[in-house]
Amino acid sequence: MTKPRTLDSIRVDVPVPPHVPKDRVVDISFAMGSVPNDLRDPYEPFDWLNGPEIPRILYNAPQARPSALGGGKGNWVVTHYDDIERVYTDNDTFSNKGTAEFQALIGETFRSIPLAVDPPEHAKYRMYLMPHFSPARLKLMEPHIRDVVVEMIEEFAAKGEVDVAWDFGRVYPVRIFMGLMGFPPPMFDQFLDWEWDILHSNDLGKMQAALRGVLEFLRGFIAEKEANPDDHLVSRIVHGEIEGRAPTEEEKIGMVWFLWLGGLDTVAATISQMFRRMALEPEIQTRLRGHPELIETAVEEFLRTQPILSSGRSAKHDFEWHGVTIKAGESITCLNSSGNFDPAQFPDARTFDPARPINRHFTFVGGVHRCLGAPLARRELWILLEEWFNRIPEFRVKPGADSTVFPGLMSIRNLPLVWDVK
Ligand code: HEM
Repeated sequence: MTKPRTLDSIRVDVPVPPHVPKDRVVDISFAMGSVPNDLRDPYEPFDWLNGPEIPRILYNAPQARPSALGGGKGNWVVTHYDDIERVYTDNDTFSNKGTAEFQALIGETFRSIPLAVDPPEHAKYRMYLMPHFSPARLKLMEPHIRDVVVEMIEEFAAKGEVDVAWDFGRVYPVRIFMGLMGFPPPMFDQFLDWEWDILHSNDLGKMQAALRGVLEFLRGFIAEKEANPDDHLVSRIVHGEIEGRAPTEEEKIGMVWFLWLGGLDTVAATISQMFRRMALEPEIQTRLRGHPELIETAVEEFLRTQPILSSGRSAKHDFEWHGVTIKAGESITCLNSSGNFDPAQFPDARTFDPARPINRHFTFVGGVHRCLGAPLARRELWILLEEWFNRIPEFRVKPGADSTVFPGLMSIRNLPLVWDVK
């Protein structure tokens, strides 16, 4: 992969709105997880974007995307820690309306709840869902999570080999998530196919077909839970009370849909990159085996050093920032893969430090929309590492295997690992 390291190398001359200064217009798609590389630290090619010589706000040239997702439009990009933090926390200026509302592609008008709802209204949905992700609730789930991990690892431990991305990482968190929601296990492959078409196909026809399929399924599933309540999350959402009243049909599908979208492949992408890093850097494995008390801070460091998403907001009104005018309705993308390595915030930012004492990264963003599933995701990763190190000795990438990675949500689809079996 070519590694552009200067602003000039990514500047592009394309038509942009008249208020956008030409010298800020760049093509930054290479830092959005769509260009693969084979580096030990796959996010390394972007670290110069938070350097002092880079303007604090850039304008990403229009990209070809299906039209209802903002195709043909450019967007502002911030790459420095402080600026990213402002976008996530200044709710008077930045809005989440329309975020992740893929359903608009087939004319649906319900909102993705809670992600696409702004404060103060956001709080009521967050409060409604939060108890299901509380530490107490997660503690109750822990034995089940541990059972699933142990059962899966024991299936391959004696073989000395596993495709950790496809056969393990892709499956484990989805089994936990489907159990939490109460979804039927046979839907596993269909869910992942729909999710892939919606998030990664970049093909409008496939996205629309997948959206129709998943929304028809989710509406049917909600109706079934209305008639036959159970103890799982979809049923609890459907039968609960929001500020003293039953949720509307739009609220029910908005919450269930967004949990479906947010909960399926995010942990899988994190797992595949985490094991890739440990296989390429065995000293991390040695350190964690010798110091299991570091597993929690190490998971935080894996999360910091492999942010799988760059999130966006839109401007609520016109305002001036870092020498440019941002107009109401324009999008601002936060390049988490740059902010998470800002040396002003993280000393020795490129080093993987499993004991990093303060680690306020943006992998789960910041502010009111900080990932609701983060406590579950963290716990899944802690438990996984504990049980893995108890059963699998030092591992490496299988000789000859391709470890090329997309540093983002697509990550790595196959990652065969091997270890010596006694
Ligand atoms: C390592 C795994 C995960 C990562 C990296 C991740 C990342 C994110 C990010 C970046 C956001 C904010 C997006 C934005 O504001 O634009 C978010 C929000 C959210 N995530 Fe996650 N997520 C993960 C796992 C999960 C899981 C397992 C679930 C559900 C079971 C989940 C449910 C949610 C929900 C409901 C929100 C919306 C929160 C709100 O708007 O208040 N996430 N996640």
